[in-house]
Amino acid sequence: MSTNITWHSGLTRQERSELRKQKGCTVWFTGLSASGKSTIAIALEQHLLQKGLACYRLDGDNVRFGLNKDLGFSPKDREENIRRIAEVAKLFADSTTMALTSFISPYAADRQLARDLHSAVPKDSSDSPLPFIEVFVDIPVAEAEKRDPKGLYKKARAGEIKEFTGISAPYEAPDKAEVHIHSERTSVEEAVVMITTYLEEKGLLE
Ligand code: PPS
Repeated sequence: MSTNITWHSGLTRQERSELRKQKGCTVWFTGLSASGKSTIAIALEQHLLQKGLACYRLDGDNVRFGLNKDLGFSPKDREENIRRIAEVAKLFADSTTMALTSFISPYAADRQLARDLHSAVPKDSSDSPLPFIEVFVDIPVAEAEKRDPKGLYKKARAGEIKEFTGISAPYEAPDKAEVHIHSERTSVEEAVVMITTYLEEKGLLE
């Protein structure tokens, strides 16, 4: 952390929210590769945009082409990947945009850090915490492996990809996700309804 820096206060979250007539939040998708998290996030993004709500999707593969192109898949790199994404998502949410993040985010501690970042409020600020909604896109490894749209499970089984989540690297399933989707028996449309129902109940779609 740098020294000699000072937090500058400006408009409060409440003021931004009232002026823009929208509340920000982060919808954090987590799940194995090929679980369907990106497909559901894209459908949700389209649904929210059609309703006139500002939202933006941050996606695993895509972010690794730019912001996180220096990171690989070791536990340390995944931790840094998630920390940066959490900070970016928080900025979107703070701007009253809905951030939809779609990352495997396999480690419970990293997801907790993302959640904690959203609930942290700067000292001397009257802001309230930013809503953080964890969406677990749950699928058995065997089913994800059957889907294997990018052929990555096949490569991982052949030893061509090291530290592949679900095969040679762990996935720590969430135990308190706000929304739990069993993707092998839930359609994309049903998943979107589950998430928007939750957001509506929390007053985040007003
Ligand atoms: S993580 O664990 O959250 O840091 O991963 P993420 O940034 O979401 O990136 C996952 C996508 O990277 C591809 N890929 C791998 N995934 C898991 N393990 C290994 N070793 C790996 N190597 C490459 C893969 O396409 C993932 O995309 P999705 O959309 O999840 O299938």
